[in-house]
Amino acid sequence: AAEDGHRAWLRYAPVPDASRYRYLPSSIIALNSTKSSPVYTAGQELQQGIKGILGKQLLVNTNGTRKTDTLAIIVGTADTYTKIYGDFDEAGDLEEDGFYLSTEGRNVLIIGSNERGALYGAFEYLSRLGQANFEEDSYVDNPHAPIRWVNQWDNLDGSIERGYAGPSIFFRNGFVADNVTRVAEYARLLASIRINGVIVNNVNANSSLLSTRNIEGLGRLADAMRPYGIQLGISLLFSSPRDLGGLPTFDPLEPTVDAWWANITEKLYAHVPDMVGYLVKANSEGQPGPLTYNRTLADGANMFARALESHGGVVMFRAFVYDNHINPANWTADRANAAVDFFKDLDGKFDENVVVQIKYGPIDFQVREPASPLFSTLRNTSTAIELQVTQEYLGHQDHLVYLAPLWKEILDFDMKADNRPSKVKDIISGGRFRRPLGGSAGVVNVGTNTTWLGSHLAMSNLYAYGKLTWDPSLSSEGILQDWIRLTFGFDKTVLDTITSMSLASWPAYENYTGNLGVQTLTDILYTHFGPNPASQDNNGWGQWTRADHTSIGMDRTVKNGTRNAGQYSPAIAQQFENIETTPDNLLLWFHHVSYTHILKSGKTVIQHFYDAHYAGASAAQSLLTQWSSLRGKIDTERFEDVLFKQTYQAGHALVWRDSITQFYCNLSGIPDEAGRVGNH
Ligand code: GCU
Repeated sequence: AAEDGHRAWLRYAPVPDASRYRYLPSSIIALNSTKSSPVYTAGQELQQGIKGILGKQLLVNTNGTRKTDTLAIIVGTADTYTKIYGDFDEAGDLEEDGFYLSTEGRNVLIIGSNERGALYGAFEYLSRLGQANFEEDSYVDNPHAPIRWVNQWDNLDGSIERGYAGPSIFFRNGFVADNVTRVAEYARLLASIRINGVIVNNVNANSSLLSTRNIEGLGRLADAMRPYGIQLGISLLFSSPRDLGGLPTFDPLEPTVDAWWANITEKLYAHVPDMVGYLVKANSEGQPGPLTYNRTLADGANMFARALESHGGVVMFRAFVYDNHINPANWTADRANAAVDFFKDLDGKFDENVVVQIKYGPIDFQVREPASPLFSTLRNTSTAIELQVTQEYLGHQDHLVYLAPLWKEILDFDMKADNRPSKVKDIISGGRFRRPLGGSAGVVNVGTNTTWLGSHLAMSNLYAYGKLTWDPSLSSEGILQDWIRLTFGFDKTVLDTITSMSLASWPAYENYTGNLGVQTLTDILYTHFGPNPASQDNNGWGQWTRADHTSIGMDRTVKNGTRNAGQYSPAIAQQFENIETTPDNLLLWFHHVSYTHILKSGKTVIQHFYDAHYAGASAAQSLLTQWSSLRGKIDTERFEDVLFKQTYQAGHALVWRDSITQFYCNLSGIPDEAGRVGNH
């Protein structure tokens, strides 16, 4: 059972009705014999998977022959396949990383547009078998966007910023880890959800990553991930030319600085020939950057772009640039304005291999935020969305919060740029503004914990992240149920129960931690864990609620507030400018109102706080009850692990409920109509 946690959704557990599969091929033909090739990996994976799922040991042959007497699973790239077997009709429909899967012809065909695509097709076939889906059909599956990366916030000392699953699998004691077993296993997991790039170190980067020893180490990490089609990238510290290189400056327009980066980049490519690129956090939260020298953020990004260009690398330049010392006494100051303020005049000034990486909301991974207005501001710049799998503000994997519904709300949000359909998902794909690049970055932060994320149920978020990067039109529930079957098997009660728990989890968490768009009322100064509504205000971080004795909420209107609503396209701006058209769940994000303001639901704001916190905490009790009902239907080890987490969540939700309701009762002096809060 410990094994099950480790293998996650790749358990390849036997399916109950394997005999229904009358079409079991008798061999595997993988059209590449090079061990670092994803096609070779696909052959091995198919062998292992079919043995587990269907109980049959197949041989893998790496030499395709024109004639096969027996049924085979043929896996390879379109090019190799065509050379040996001739054309196939769907070849023209394949896009980069896409694949064609056919289970209805004489052979099972798994044909990738490239090697990585072939591996994705193999995982797809195994996922179908693993769910006892023996349908016979043929289809092409192409990605929604080219950039499907994860970010790890791993430090060289082995710690992980906002990581909740133990120390790093990549680094130890200042250096790249010697043992890369877990790195290869992680790459396998990521390839199975069609991720193609991993930034291995923290955005708050350290220049000693670029030491000779560590560059060699990065080469080993890349080698370990290459058989899975995963390319390595790294985060850079902007001041490295000074800090590591000993130059007097790190001014991006200084030729010696440029040359320094070109040289380091050469060295990196000598060890990591397929390095995917760089991730840069500059001029944010105390990090150095181009603004230090009065250069623009585009000057900074383009410096890396030049170094990478001839190698085919991409710069992910983070839009998370803001001043963390803004003045709370200033009614119109607003951290949420920062990204658009910093980037709007730079649109079109970034090199073609720069992608601006934008957190989904304007602040910072809160339980509820509107989509960042930057998505529709940048029209001549490639963009990617940054999501968080690691539950920084969302309960540190000690609370079950299934995040696909949150992500989908953002991805499906229509920014109405120029009054034309402009869903966030179609902007980041490059489609809406016709950009060559785009996609997603997910902050994952797996650690050495055998469960990867420190929680069995949290793995649904990693699975969903990958699935949505590939196809954001998938439903949250559909993704979830695939994951449940692959992770826990076929019991109908297990499927229904985990589905119901997961789909209730985000609304529950929002209810007991911060409703009406007021943000997650957690401690923002240190832990980002547990209730601390007082910590939001009266400091320079700008995650303000503006709560006083009579009223609460950020006035982000143009007419009377921070003008943030005006950063959206006119149709959206108008919606958020007006209280009447702002949805209740974003009311306090955009408006400052009295506690007795009446919501669309007919309740007052303060009564909604009380009711929602009680409802949320009660939903958390129900998660525990529901999980408890699965005793005996799930192996003891995983059952007990999750039981422990759900017990914790149920208790912690009560702490949340009581702290928040009491805090606002004290502040407003308005008692709860139901008599639950106050009178202490
Ligand atoms: C949050 C988080 C930091 C992180 C930062 C970032 O503020 O708490 O740990 O460094 O985001 O995304 O850069």
